[in-house]
Amino acid sequence: MAAPVVDAEYLRQVDRARRHLRALISNKGCAPIMLRLAWHDAGTYDVSTKTGGANGSIRFEEEYTHGSNAGLKIAIDLLEPIKAKNPRITYADLYQLAGVVAVEVTGGPTVEFVPGRRDSSVCPREGRLPDAKKGASHLRDIFYRMGLTDKDIVALSGGHTLGRAHPERSGFEGAWTKEPLKFDNSYFLELLTDESEGLLKLPTDKALLSDPEFRHYVELYAKDEDAFFKDYAESHKKLSELGFTPR
Ligand code: HEM
Repeated sequence: MAAPVVDAEYLRQVDRARRHLRALISNKGCAPIMLRLAWHDAGTYDVSTKTGGANGSIRFEEEYTHGSNAGLKIAIDLLEPIKAKNPRITYADLYQLAGVVAVEVTGGPTVEFVPGRRDSSVCPREGRLPDAKKGASHLRDIFYRMGLTDKDIVALSGGHTLGRAHPERSGFEGAWTKEPLKFDNSYFLELLTDESEGLLKLPTDKALLSDPEFRHYVELYAKDEDAFFKDYAESHKKLSELGFTPR
């Protein structure tokens, strides 16, 4: 599909959608699933074929029924009324704006949002998102395919400061932190603590401790929240623009 024309009216709708998203996300406490939706739409990007990415294709049944997207139809449906009230905004932009607002309203850093993503009706094949049961080399395979770095992998894993796993969706259970609706650096603090009883650590979370390059960033972000917020905001912006070149 053609790129949207980002004129004054488009920008007005982006501003209005941002307000609608703030209200929806605080009223429903749905920041975690909105962040996950944004990440799963963008995270299918393949830098070598320039396919997938933040293009709204997750709105199609073919893609949201992929195993790794279990539960995300809830977020897609919650966003439909906002799309209806702001029809110029592409799905691709709306989903990424929802991710940015989710981080902001839960106390995280401001992630710069540049509008203009085009919608695609081509869904990537299943299997481009990471498998939580695997280790460091799998994480690198998946994130390098997106064109992202070791630093991006660790900073973005800090997104697990929000939300929880649901047995009926992923087979895993529980939250990573004691306050799963607050965006802070507690994911890294808990990761480094042996006694985080009742909290979740996926095999891919633990891989960040066993790999020395990853661990360096885990230790930095645990002791310096400002460093985490700065790197997270940069990495999230990169993620949100996979397959999109802002003009
Ligand atoms: C939830 C895996 C990276 C944000 C989950 C769940 C799994 C998972 C298994 C539980 C889903 C459920 O049962 O509802 C992974 C793996 C990653 C990864 C293997 C590889 C590094 C990320 C990234 C972000 C993110 C990069 C965002 C920046 C979230 C959020 C939730 C979540 C916010 C909670 C959703 C909710 O509460 O409904 N992730 N994830 N994840 N993930 Fe990740």
